[in-house]
Amino acid sequence: MKRASLFLALLAFTAVVALTACGGGGGEKVNVAEVTSKPKVYVGSDRCKSCHLEHFDSWMMTLHSRMLGDARKDKDVIIADLNPDVIRADLAKLQNLKVKPEEFYIPKPEEVLYTIGSQWKQRYIVEKNGMLVIAPIQYNSDTGRWVNYNEATWDKSSWILKCGGCHATGVDLTKNTFEPSVGCEACHGPGSWHTALPKAQVFDKRATIVNPAKLTSGVAAQICGSCHNRGKATKNDKAEWPVGYLPGKALETYFKSTSFAGGDAQHLYGNEFSKAHHQQYIDWKQSKHFAEGVMCTSCHYVHELGIGKTRFQTRESGSKQCLSCHTRTNSNQAHAIHSFGNCLGCHMPRVVTSAESGDLHSHVFKTLLPKETLKDPKIPNSCVKCHHHAKDDLATLQKKYDALAQLPRPQGKVIDSVDMIKAGN
Ligand code: HEC
Ligand code: HEC
Ligand code: HEC
Ligand code: HEC
Ligand code: HEC
Ligand code: HEC
Ligand code: HEC
Ligand code: HEC
Repeated sequence: MKRASLFLALLAFTAVVALTACGGGGGEKVNVAEVTSKPKVYVGSDRCKSCHLEHFDSWMMTLHSRMLGDARKDKDVIIADLNPDVIRADLAKLQNLKVKPEEFYIPKPEEVLYTIGSQWKQRYIVEKNGMLVIAPIQYNSDTGRWVNYNEATWDKSSWILKCGGCHATGVDLTKNTFEPSVGCEACHGPGSWHTALPKAQVFDKRATIVNPAKLTSGVAAQICGSCHNRGKATKNDKAEWPVGYLPGKALETYFKSTSFAGGDAQHLYGNEFSKAHHQQYIDWKQSKHFAEGVMCTSCHYVHELGIGKTRFQTRESGSKQCLSCHTRTNSNQAHAIHSFGNCLGCHMPRVVTSAESGDLHSHVFKTLLPKETLKDPKIPNSCVKCHHHAKDDLATLQKKYDALAQLPRPQGKVIDSVDMIKAGN
């Protein structure tokens, strides 16, 4: 009895807290027309926290929330020692530097305003002549070494113009303001109308914010494509991010992706596979997955509590991700030769570079066969990572593969990929 009334009291208390905590109160109805007659502006992720704590917490566990570190508030966002002796010693090992190692500008910790990144590499934003610029050094997280970064021109270009829109939210190029990192509104659009309405006005709430799951899937994927992409803005001739784009709009109107055919041999291989990072969208657009509607969010989550932590926010880890849809694979060609099941090794080879060569995965999902490399030596293949030690030359490997992959197919039972995984492969 006692327990029940305590429970009721708690319930009543929670209800009152719920009605009053989230701004706007619960009682009076707010006039939607009045709210939506004002400009729709960015309010920052902290404003979403009060009503969407689960989404907020789960977002905090992803790299999106950690993109920029505010070094003015917390020096610990700088992950490596900015020790000039160590840094110059590392730089001295590099070739073709445009500035002598001893003449490099190395920021002091107190000069760093923001850090950019930590997973693969870290760069440092400092202020020079009233402009935010990137210091000419970079720390590579996997190898722990320092390398150069645009040492000759670092103080000539504006960070906000070159990089801002992909690493911060609600960037305003006239006022030079932004929320550091990839906040809620980067994917949901400006939230001032939505936050001005009380919690109880559920349907008005829903109508005032973008939910990617309620957009057509192509337009929803373009939200991810607004940053996991490389190219030029169409509405600003200097920016390399889609100035003016908002979630729900057609990305192509605001951004033109780069391509090998268009002359960009620095960031793409001759077969249009990505060589450089933040181009997952460019890769994916060429894949069968794109054609068949397998989206970024079919494989990746953005904020979901309860999913075990995986590398790079995949819904399942490693090959299990593929097997969740491809419960069976054919048993001919390459699959007949290899009795093990690491799908990623062949279908998502690490041919993309962020900090060090080959630290990121291809997203075309096609296996790169030796014949690709034979045609153009600059194009890597999926096979040499394992086959190099056997000293197979590529032409022989391709010949062997062709012979084994020809009809009549090698005989054997159909491979059940789930069993392959269970067998510990
Ligand atoms: C005052 C409380 C409150 C605040 C602050 C708030 N929301 Fe909401 N949000 C709600 C309510 C209530 C709903 C409707 C829930 C439902 O559909 O059952 C909602 C729904 C949503 C939806 C789903 C819409 C749909 O159509 O399914 C998204 C996305 C969303 N909010 C994002 C945000 C973002 C981003 C922010 C910060 C800019 C934010 N919310 C701030 C209360 C709030
Ligand atoms: C078109 C969007 C876009 C532009 C422009 C852009 N980046 Fe990025 N950047 C990304 C994305 C997306 C990632 C993460 C995915 C990846 O690397 O493949 C990333 C990753 C990084 C990382 C590594 C993060 C980590 O945790 O290791 C650093 C550092 C970085 N960018 C710095 C910059 C700088 C400096 C500029 C401007 C000169 C810039 N970026 C321009 C989208 C962009
Ligand atoms: C990188 C993009 C991205 C960021 C950043 C992001 N969201 Fe979302 N959000 C999505 C997508 C995509 C969906 C649609 C659900 C899905 O497909 O998993 C979604 C759905 C939602 C929903 C609808 C309910 C649900 O879970 O489906 C709410 C509420 C929401 N997000 C709130 C937030 C809040 C609050 C933040 C910041 C703390 C945030 N989101 C940050 C992409 C993002
Ligand atoms: C068919 C599944 C699938 C799809 C679709 C997919 N990814 Fe991935 N993605 C993966 C897997 C698997 C990894 C590697 C995870 C690991 O190392 O365990 C990955 C890795 C990544 C990474 C980490 C850096 C790298 O490249 O290794 C980023 C960023 C990423 N994906 C973004 C995207 C974006 C953006 C899209 C849509 C344009 C997308 N992915 C579509 C499966 C997918
Ligand atoms: C505003 C730009 C922006 C948008 C929009 C965006 N991303 Fe990202 N994403 C980034 C940046 C920048 C990073 C690297 C963050 C870092 O290294 O701290 C990143 C990292 C990632 C990673 C690696 C995360 C990890 O924990 O290892 C995945 C996966 C990813 N994004 C998927 C997506 C998907 C899916 C969408 C669309 C729903 C999306 N992103 C939308 C900029 C963006
Ligand atoms: C959400 C479901 C889903 C996931 C997860 C998924 N796929 Fe797919 N995949 C499909 C669909 C649907 C197709 C198109 C129909 C088909 O060809 O079977 C496809 C096609 C393919 C193809 C055929 C490409 C071609 O050109 O014929 C390959 C290769 C492939 N996927 C590899 C992978 C790999 C590797 C993974 C794991 C990283 C993966 N898939 C994860 C659904 C998925
Ligand atoms: C030794 C390299 C290798 C491994 C490991 C591998 N594949 Fe393949 N796979 C290939 C090649 C080569 C093809 C021919 C098409 C191509 O170039 O992508 C292929 C074709 C496919 C296709 C399209 C043909 C079909 O069967 O419909 C799918 C789907 C596929 N693989 C999925 C998987 C999955 C899932 C795994 C993990 C269980 C896996 N592969 C492991 C090399 C490999
Ligand atoms: C993850 C490591 C790995 C990858 C990636 C890989 N292989 Fe293999 N491959 C092996 C191993 C180990 C064997 C021998 C054991 C076996 O048959 O399972 C083998 C066997 C072979 C054979 C038959 C044996 C011979 O040399 O006569 C051929 C042909 C072959 N691989 C071709 C390829 C091609 C083509 C690719 C790229 C599409 C590839 N492999 C990718 C590890 C790999």
